[in-house]
Amino acid sequence: MSVISSLITSLKYPVLTIAIVIVAIFYQQSIFPKSSNNTVVPTKKIFSLAELSTYNGIQQEKLYLAVIGNVFDVTVGSQHYKKGSSYHYFIGKDGTRALVTGNFKDESSNKDNVLDLPCSDLLSILDWRQTFKQKYTYVGLLADRYYDKNGEETMYMSELKQKVKRCRIEKEEAKKQDQLYPPCNISWSEEDGSRVWCTKSR
Ligand code: HEM
Repeated sequence: MSVISSLITSLKYPVLTIAIVIVAIFYQQSIFPKSSNNTVVPTKKIFSLAELSTYNGIQQEKLYLAVIGNVFDVTVGSQHYKKGSSYHYFIGKDGTRALVTGNFKDESSNKDNVLDLPCSDLLSILDWRQTFKQKYTYVGLLADRYYDKNGEETMYMSELKQKVKRCRIEKEEAKKQDQLYPPCNISWSEEDGSRVWCTKSR
């Protein structure tokens, strides 16, 4: 019997109906708890740095990495990430900064710091996160710089979001300027004399 038809049948029995409704509410809340801003978010695991570091293909079979505090299971890309391969650096940690600096030796506490980077780098990091979201499985959040141990965004994350917003506006403005005033070039040769040409809008 379907849930709806059993509900209709049970309407004849008020106590049973109330019990079904209470169970349904608890079930829904346990799957989709409400965040502080009251939006429903799917439950995800919160990792500590120590726990994330074990997902290195050895202590734990799987390979996990974090990008701005979002943890992804990249085991299916083990050709890039297993020990000895080009991008093993990223495994078991949040090494977001190296996604744009290419410094795969940075094991300092600065390796997930991005606020001092220029807009182009910040936007590129967001592109990277999108790539990981599309290609791999998102498994949770890292409680550190970007999220706290309850999975709530930290002050640092709010600052980053603000900066990214400004960067996007700047980028849009620059694009508009380019369309209004496309960059022009001039050349001169004895044969052709002066020649001026402008780049079409990007
Ligand atoms: C800042 C420097 C760089 C960073 C942070 C970087 C990062 C990465 C990462 C994370 C991946 C794996 C992507 C995935 O999981 O699908 C990757 C793949 C790859 N990278 Fe880089 N990379 C850098 C520079 C380079 C350079 C200079 C080259 C070439 C000379 C290169 C060639 C490749 C190739 C061929 C792949 C494999 C693409 C595929 O199989 O889909 N990378 N890179």
